[in-house]
Amino acid sequence: MTRTGLIHRYRALLPVSERTPVISLQEGDTPLLPTCRMAEWVGAPHLRLFLKYEGLNPTGSFKDRGMTLAISKAAEAGSQAVITASTGNTSASAAAYAARAGMRCVVLIPEGQIALGKLSQALIHGAEVFAVQGNFDDALTMVRRVGEVAPITIVNSINPFRIECQKTGAFEIVDELGEAPDYHFIPVGNAGNITAYWKGYKEYIALGKCRKVPKMMGWQAEGAAPIVKGEAIKDPKTIATAIKIGNPASWKEALEARDESKGMIGAVSDDEIVQAYLALAREGVFCEPASAASVAGLKKFVRSNPALALSSATVVCVLTGHGLKDPERALALVPKPKSVLPTVEAIRGELGI
Ligand code: F0G
Repeated sequence: MTRTGLIHRYRALLPVSERTPVISLQEGDTPLLPTCRMAEWVGAPHLRLFLKYEGLNPTGSFKDRGMTLAISKAAEAGSQAVITASTGNTSASAAAYAARAGMRCVVLIPEGQIALGKLSQALIHGAEVFAVQGNFDDALTMVRRVGEVAPITIVNSINPFRIECQKTGAFEIVDELGEAPDYHFIPVGNAGNITAYWKGYKEYIALGKCRKVPKMMGWQAEGAAPIVKGEAIKDPKTIATAIKIGNPASWKEALEARDESKGMIGAVSDDEIVQAYLALAREGVFCEPASAASVAGLKKFVRSNPALALSSATVVCVLTGHGLKDPERALALVPKPKSVLPTVEAIRGELGI
């Protein structure tokens, strides 16, 4: 199949017309990777376990799904500037798509708290980046306020076009499997993505494209788990900076997704996230720490649900962003390369072969 980008591919199910300029980087159509050893690693060896590898989108995260439509609709409306608060990935995506559209892009990031790869992306695409002295929630509050008074389009997931096109992730999964999975595991930060996938599954069942919908299984980091705790968190803490969010914008919608699907939203510790991140890497799949929360969540869930340990259910874990986004985290977890002399003997000596 030729890559066309999501607006062309799912045009009939998106709010676009012939008048909508299509701003695309040929996003979507990401791999649904079958796993090798991960099912065993999570303690449920018979699962049909797939990884929706969203890191292979053009800017390296799932954000491109929603950004293509948000920027296209902004262009259709004649907007010349967009603004976003971000833990990194949204800013990278907004910067790239705005560059493509020839628009100005303003980014507010929590100072000192976003991964290096993401920052470099926003900057190289020419976004005007401001490091807010506060956390993501403070930055989003500022974006909302500026959006109210200035001629600039907000492209955070409070922009409904973002969620609208992110739902295509669910379409792709069903199109590929021929049915919805039994369980859908997903990291939760600002809660837009769980909202979008649930919308996608619901639309597909209404269209008769699948006969069931999955249980939506959302995972926050323990130190940034407002939905699990039932209250906003003033000073969220986690190594998974992408989901370091204390007051999610789509909180209510995430609860709806959880309850309507009879799923759950739980929390995993930073250590559990890191273990899943390393296990995925050992299987050839490099994602960023926040993404590994979905797999960490699956492992945790299997522990408390022995029935799943024996089941052959179909499970999809979404890996939301590429590991290259956060090279510093990867390097902090592994030994440094050893210095050797450039001789065969030296290398054989090191290897013992
Ligand atoms: N995983 C990654 C890699 C993310 O970047 C994000 C969110 C999430 C998961 C959580 O998704 O917010 O829809 O629940 N990143 C946003 C950003 C907040 O600014 O890049 P969510």
